Amino acid sequence: MYIGLDLGTSGIKGILIGEDQRVLAEATAPLTVQRPAEGWSEQAPSEWISAAETVFDKLAQKGLGGVRGIGLSGHMHGATLLDAADEVLRPCILWNDTRAHAEAAALDADPKFRRLTGNIVFPGFTAPKLVWVQRHEPQVWDRVAKVLLPKDYLRLWLTGEHVGEMSDAAGTSWLDTGRRDWSDELLAATGLTRAQMPRLVEGSQVSGTLREALASRWGLPKSVVVAGGGGDNAASGVGVGVVRAGEAFVSLGTSGVLFAANDGYQPDPATAVHTFCHALPDTWHQMGVILAATDALNWYARLLGTEAARLTGELGSTLHAPGKTIFLPYLGGERTPLNSASVRGAFTGLEHATDRQAATRAVLEGVTFAIRDSRDALAATGTKLEHLLAVGGGSRSDYWLKLIATALDCPVQLPVAGDFGGAFGAARLGLMAATGAGAEIATLPQIARTIDPDPSLKDAFDAGHQRFRAAQSAIKDLT
Ligand code: XUL
Repeated sequence: MYIGLDLGTSGIKGILIGEDQRVLAEATAPLTVQRPAEGWSEQAPSEWISAAETVFDKLAQKGLGGVRGIGLSGHMHGATLLDAADEVLRPCILWNDTRAHAEAAALDADPKFRRLTGNIVFPGFTAPKLVWVQRHEPQVWDRVAKVLLPKDYLRLWLTGEHVGEMSDAAGTSWLDTGRRDWSDELLAATGLTRAQMPRLVEGSQVSGTLREALASRWGLPKSVVVAGGGGDNAASGVGVGVVRAGEAFVSLGTSGVLFAANDGYQPDPATAVHTFCHALPDTWHQMGVILAATDALNWYARLLGTEAARLTGELGSTLHAPGKTIFLPYLGGERTPLNSASVRGAFTGLEHATDRQAATRAVLEGVTFAIRDSRDALAATGTKLEHLLAVGGGSRSDYWLKLIATALDCPVQLPVAGDFGGAFGAARLGLMAATGAGAEIATLPQIARTIDPDPSLKDAFDAGHQRFRAAQSAIKDLT
């Protein structure tokens, strides 16, 4: 048996799989995000541990005596800062925190960052956050002995070791992404050294073994290996079998991600596409990332005092052409393709006839058009999408899946029941680390349904996307 733990922004999910990869148990525990100032987004690492303990308590009811490996997945880019005694120095600064936008722009202006990392230095990436801490919290900066990514802090708790892996490390702006190693030059440019970074392994390699105290607490055997794991998107890629060129998925989670596996390393920072190491040796991937997908829908549901699922349920299953109302989902800035920390969202084209359902449709359309922008950015690098697997909480809405298929003009495949997201990919990486298996076990899921684009609405959605782009340029500089 193998455990996959996925540290998501809104909660931790744990799953237990058997040798045949069938899911035997799953458990979740919620997490919250603190936003103490505009553009800030933080979590206390101690809450990750409490939530992981809850997940282990629940999984242990199934009996964990047969577990051989554990894999980790987690939200990327977070700066978890530890002192020399491994005490957490401040709340983790998360992936969707944009406070370090000035520091990011300054690093990005130095050509070696794009040259070595293959990416723009986005405000949400880790390196600019450390420069921000150096400037604004010198008492913290002076004590930084280790910088860990969020799931790697869970690993420290599980194994006692400081270890990171390639896919998550690629989102720090300190990795030489082509060579799959820390860049001493980039670390030095932010006042850091390799000694402050964790040792790196591949996602499918062993990173350490489970501490005995934890093994006996939950009834696991001795010497359970913990795999490197992956950033949540790379881990999801392993979970849905998107590990070979030609395969791609769309993830409708707190963030929205359009993810394609690549044959080799083919960066193109000018497009705001992210080019990162995959969680398997010698593989890379590209993705467009929007900061608010279900986050935008949940924001809108809270405003209406209801639940997102109720709103999407009210839409029925017949896809409508986009209406006059346009929603721009930039609640906390945007990554692909805008790279703007200051842009903010908007509703435009509101009219007397805009009722609750029309506004809900506009929210879903806005997020979908933003994902279409990522599709265009990927296409500019030469990556064409033939079909897309759908993962993440938003994929439970049929209306949304139809919208994506038609607005992106690309068939969307829905895997059979079960969440094939980061936790499953992490469990697969745990299996690989424990048994020596490789990419061959990261098979594509069985497809429950394929949702084809509706050709009769193609023109209407092309025109809707044009209006979305016009609205985007109209509000881009309004802050
Ligand atoms: C990827 C990104 C998000 C987070 C949270 O670059 O920032 O997808 O990993 O899921």
